[in-house]
Order: sequence, then C-alpha cells, then structure tokens
Amino acid sequence: MFQSKIAGIGYYVPKNVYTNNDLTRFMDTSDEWIQERTGIKERRYADRIGETTTTMGVEAAKIAIERANISKEDVDFIIFATLSPDYYFPGCAVLLQREMGMNEVGALDIRNQCSGFIYALSIADQFVKTGMYKNILVVGSEKHSFALDFSTRGRAVSVIFGDGAGAVVVQPTTETGKGILSTHLHSDGAEAEKLAMYYPGASSGIWLDKMPDWPEQELGGLLMTKEMLEDGTAFPNMDGQAVFKKAVVKFPEVIHEALSKNNLETSDINLLIPHQANLRISQFVQKTLGLHEDQVFNNIQKYGNTTAASIPIALCEAWEAGKIKDGDLICLAAFGAGFTWGSALIRW
Ligand code: ACO
Repeated sequence: MFQSKIAGIGYYVPKNVYTNNDLTRFMDTSDEWIQERTGIKERRYADRIGETTTTMGVEAAKIAIERANISKEDVDFIIFATLSPDYYFPGCAVLLQREMGMNEVGALDIRNQCSGFIYALSIADQFVKTGMYKNILVVGSEKHSFALDFSTRGRAVSVIFGDGAGAVVVQPTTETGKGILSTHLHSDGAEAEKLAMYYPGASSGIWLDKMPDWPEQELGGLLMTKEMLEDGTAFPNMDGQAVFKKAVVKFPEVIHEALSKNNLETSDINLLIPHQANLRISQFVQKTLGLHEDQVFNNIQKYGNTTAASIPIALCEAWEAGKIKDGDLICLAAFGAGFTWGSALIRW
C-alpha cells in the first residue's frame, strides 16, 4: 500500500475582474450588501467565447504538471471536477486530454459541485494507494458566468459565483507520515433541490406534445424553453438560509471526523482551507472549531465562490504565499449542493 501526496499545484483565473459595483449595472444590489453577506469584493468572469471550463482547467493543469516535475506524457489518469461542463456530454476530462495532447489514459468527470474537488482528490488517493496509477491529474474548474441570472431576480445567487480553475498532481510518496492522511466523503440527497440547477436535465424540457411549436419554443438549447427563462428555472436555484444552516454544521463535523481518525486535535491544524462558499460560513466554522484567524485561509474576497475550483485555487495561493511549509498539517473541507460534503487531511 502506497501513501499519496500532492506533488504539484497550479491555478488559473480569467483576466476579467467584475467588482460588486460593476454588478450594479445589471441588477439592484450594492457593494455593501454583497460584502456584508458574503465577504466578496470582486470575482473573475471568463471570456464569453473561447474561454471555457476546459481551457481554464488546461492552464491550471500545465502549471501543476510543471511543478510536479513531470511531463504531460507521465500523467496516467485524469479526474475533472465541475458543475459547469463545456458540454452536457462528453465530460471535460476527455476535452482536457484532447486539448493537452495527452496519452490515451483514463479520464473521469466528477459532478459533486462544491465538494467535487475533495471527491476527486479522494478517488486519486485511492488509485495511488493501490498502486494502480502514479501521476494523477486532478482538476477543478468552473465557468459559472455562462449561466447566472444577472437580473435583480437572480441577485442572491449570481453575486456569489465566479470563474476559475485549480489543479494538482497526486503521486505516491515514500516519506513516512507525509502526504494525504485520510479523506472523508458524505452526502444527503434529502435536500437536493435546496441548491440546484435543473437545466439541462432530463426531468425538464420540451415535451413531445410541444414539438410542433418547436421553432417558437426553442431558445438556444434543446431542453430549455422560453418559460424556463421567464420563470427563472433555467438558472441556479438556492435556498441560501438552508444552505448556510447545513454548511455550518457539516463543515466542523467532517473536519472533526478527519482529525479524530488521525488522533489529532484542531490545535494541530496549521492551515484549514475551506471551500470558499461564503466568508461568513468560513468565519462561523473557524469560531466553532476554536481556530485562530491565521489558521484559516480565505480568498473568496477576490474570486467569489468558484465551486469545484475554490479549494485548489486557495491551496495554490496559500502555497505560493509561503503559508504552507514542509511538515504542516493542512485540512481541506467542503460542503455544497447535493448536499455533499467532505474533508481531506494532508501532512505536507
Ligand atoms: N443585493 C441586494 N439585496 C439582495 C441581494 C443582493 N445581491 N440578494 C438578495 N437581496 C435582498 C432580498 O431580495 C431580500 O430583500 P427583502 O427583505 O426586501 O425581501 C433581502 O436581501 C434578504 O434576502 P435573503 O435571501 O433573506 O438574504 P440573506 O440574509 O439570507 O442572505 C445569502 C442571502 C447571502 C445567500 C445568505 O442566505 C447566505 O449567506 N447563504 C449561504 C449560501 C451560500 O453561501 N451559498 C454559496 C453557494 S453554496 C456553497 O458553496 C456551499
């Protein structure tokens, strides 16, 4: 049985910065409201054409591969976590494999929203532990800006999300006690609709009896109807308070689970990198765990919530800023739509 480690990390964010004030051009909102409720000051949006979830993932992946001191030919498995894939199918992992000209290795998409990166990392960890693969590329990338409701109706959701990508290379390590110590995954589908986007999906769309009217009904997508745009069901739907209440319970729970599995205490954590859902959620979790502010890394202020990309972007920024040192105990934790949640404990 091998132990796995993160051997290289990279991130990419689009150049287009949208401040809270910029959003007031499209909807009735304010910098004060957004900062007070979420901590977000600005976010990045990808170019409308030419920049996609896959292309952003490619940029992050190139950096992670270089920093792992391997070449793209060494990558023997690809895992891509996203809720905003370029296509309904096939997934982004194969598109990245094509774009990067990689070998005909296995490629897997993970659809676990904000927990997607933790799920992807956990799968990579298992494959490396069993000796099946040696250089797994794990990518989290999102282009949310293509499907947000930028009218006042959608403001509670759309102000939160941003675009970006992060990537890591997971390899075996021979250093005893180092690397990924454990991962912990959970879900509860009972409240799936509290945070969901129904389009494109087989439970909604144009029914056969509407086919004769197709030219009037069809509006830019096989499964989206004019009604769905008008009533807002074409856009992400969130019960913000329900998400908040569940997140502030499940984050600490799954962090304690990871610590207890490894006979460690919260005081042993050098850096907690939570999924950047909302600064208020991160601060609540920090206080619940009794952690010092310096023990928690947040960058949601600059990028908004980038879902599956938020943890690898934050991990990479923290590492580049010298906040992660050899031997540090790093805790990654996420909670998101599904609901799904998870954690990973890493001895760097
Ligand atoms: N700007 C200005 N006003 C707004 C905005 C906005 N962007 N959005 C909503 N409002 C208004 C509402 O219309 C409402 O007005 P009313 O009182 O006149 O009816 C008022 O603000 C309060 O609305 P609420 O929805 O009750 O606002 P709340 O205080 O709950 O804050 C928020 C909303 C920020 C979403 C909050 O519920 C929250 O933090 N939830 C956590 C959800 C979250 O962070 N999700 C992240 C994505 S999921 C994840 O990553 C896990």
